[in-house]
Formats: sequence, C-alpha cells, structure tokens
Amino acid sequence: MTRVLRIAAIGDLHCTVSSEGAFQPLFSQIGASADVIALCGDLTDYGTVSEARILAKELSTLKLPKVAVLGNHDFESMAATEVAQVLTDIAGVIVLDGTAVEVLGVGFAGAKGFAGGFGERALQSWGEEPIKAFVRAAIEESLKLESALARLRTPGRVAILHYAPIRGTVDGEPVEIYPFLGSSRLEEPLNRYRPSIVLHGHAHRGQLEGLTAAGVPVYNVALPLLRRRFPDQPPFRVIEVPVVGEAPDSAPSTGEGTVAVARSVSP
Ligand SMILES: [Fe+2]
Ligand SMILES: [Fe+2]
Repeated sequence: MTRVLRIAAIGDLHCTVSSEGAFQPLFSQIGASADVIALCGDLTDYGTVSEARILAKELSTLKLPKVAVLGNHDFESMAATEVAQVLTDIAGVIVLDGTAVEVLGVGFAGAKGFAGGFGERALQSWGEEPIKAFVRAAIEESLKLESALARLRTPGRVAILHYAPIRGTVDGEPVEIYPFLGSSRLEEPLNRYRPSIVLHGHAHRGQLEGLTAAGVPVYNVALPLLRRRFPDQPPFRVIEVPVVGEAPDSAPSTGEGTVAVARSVSP
C-alpha cells in the first residue's frame, strides 16, 4: 500500500493579542486528521512579538511537525525575524525563507513570495527607481523559491508560499487588487521543478484550486476563504502526498513520472 503524508494546510490565521484559546478547537482537529501542518503566512495580524507569542503557545499544543512561511502581515511591525524566532522557540515551527526541509519523507520548499501581477500585464522593471525596487523584490522571492526547490531530492515535494503564483486562485477578488495578490514570477520555478503541490494564502476571496501552466496543482488555503466556502467544516485542508517513487534528478523536472500526485481529501 502506498504510504501518504497527510498535510494540513492553512494560511492567514491573523492571530491577534485577543486570540488566546481561539485556535484550540482548530488545532485539535488538525492534530486528529494530519501528519504535518503547513502554515501559509499572515500568521499574525500586525506582526508583533506579542501576537507571535500567543500563536506559538496555541501551536505548542499541536504535536505535529510544523512548517511555515511568513506573510506580509508578519512584516508590519518590522519584527519578522523575532516573530519567526518566537514561533520556532516556543512551538518548534520550521519557518522557511528560501529554504527547504524534509519532513517524514516529503520535501518542503518555502518562500513568502511577493506581488507584481500576472501574465503579460505583470509589472516590469522600467522607469522610476521605486518601481524597479518593487520588481526586484518579486524577482528575489522567485529566486528564493527556486533555490529552495532545487535542494529537494524527495519524490513528494511541496512548495509553500504566502502570495499566489497564478491568477487562477485569486479570481474572485476585486480585479483592481490582483497585482497585489501575487506574481507570475513565482510560477516560473514551479513549472521548472514541478513540485507535487503548491500551497498559498493571502487571497482571502480567491479560488480554492488552480493549476500552473505545467499542470502543478495550486491550493489557496487562506482561512477566510475556507471558512466562507465550507461553512460547516473546520477551515483547513488535508492534502495527501504519496511518499513513493524515484527521487527527481538534480536538474529541474522536464517530463512525467518523477513527481507524486496529490489528492485533496477534505474539507
Ligand atoms: Fe491575510
Ligand atoms: Fe497577506
């Protein structure tokens, strides 16, 4: 029988200083239904150390491996490094930032990502210096994602982002804010390395699922979206990634047969 890793995926918890106890029912349901939790950024609301401490205390009751990336809200108070450190120290969260980790036979590559828009209408590096700096930030996040993906050698591989890599999972948001919800620059390394699945948050009113141009499944697991779409179920998804097959070559995947197939089992 094929062994699978059950990944509980959720983003946009937006923990505040008054959230103490609020996540306990959610985390106990996750603990009963998954082998690992992947947290897709906006873990705190204002990016303060106080909020991070409250979330870390809540998360410490969850006895699963925890992998995360930060989101834009986690940067609001210029304390992102401290927020990540608190989550690691108190709750054992592995915070990925252009880095990779193997958990129970499946590889996780993570980066926050950035904005800039999608396809031919994406913002280009041209004109004023602030525009160039903005585009540079998106390119740097794309390079971080690429270098993290390049480190993985497991057949089952998961990419974790906060920002969306494709337009498909932001559809449904006001069209005026599409360029602030993600960037096609993040899709390029995903199409080259073809992880089993991609998880992201940030687009609270987007779509649940989409595909990259190379057919990689993308899941938007923003908590407000899951809550709205599945009002009768706990707001997280469990996605199974088989722990089987041959490890990919060190070069990016260009054909079929080397990556595991993900299956969404809930909500
Ligand atoms: Fe958010
Ligand atoms: Fe966000």
